[in-house]
Amino acid sequence: MVDNILLVGFMGSGKSVVGKQLSKILDRNFIDTDEEIEKKENRSIKDIFDIDGENYFRSEETKFLQSLIEKDNTIISTGGGIVLKEQNRELLKKIGKVIFLHADVEHIINNIKDNDTRPLLQTDDYVKTISEMLESREDKYLSTADIIIQTSGKDVKSIAEEIISLL
Ligand code: S3P
Repeated sequence: MVDNILLVGFMGSGKSVVGKQLSKILDRNFIDTDEEIEKKENRSIKDIFDIDGENYFRSEETKFLQSLIEKDNTIISTGGGIVLKEQNRELLKKIGKVIFLHADVEHIINNIKDNDTRPLLQTDDYVKTISEMLESREDKYLSTADIIIQTSGKDVKSIAEEIISLL
């Protein structure tokens, strides 16, 4: 077993729900990077993007990631764009074991369509937007991951159990 476990993957791939389930089964603390940034800023991710822009959000994301170097025994779910910066990819690997939750476009759309406040998914064409973003990010998720899990068609509990069996 390792100390920290980090979940990376596209928006709507299930990082937060799977992270919570893992923390329950393994009895470890859980941290969601987006939630922590929202708490620190006292506003939503959408407001941060709208008012200060993506670059500001990305620099807060990196600062928060740096603070996680000190953690032990923690399950960390991350924002979908955390792998965009090379600095973050290196930090993720230093912090712990990185699990990439790989979901297909339909699975992602199903998870986000009813309640989407994500600033980068304000589009009339989910399939096109998500397919293009997935393609441009895929290599970054893959090169950061120690373990890759296919999540499409699986429930949260079985994804968490599959991760545990591979640690
Ligand atoms: C983003 C994903 C979001 C959030 C922000 C940007 C991205 O997190 O960090 O809206 O660039 O993919 P989730 O993956 O938790 O939705």
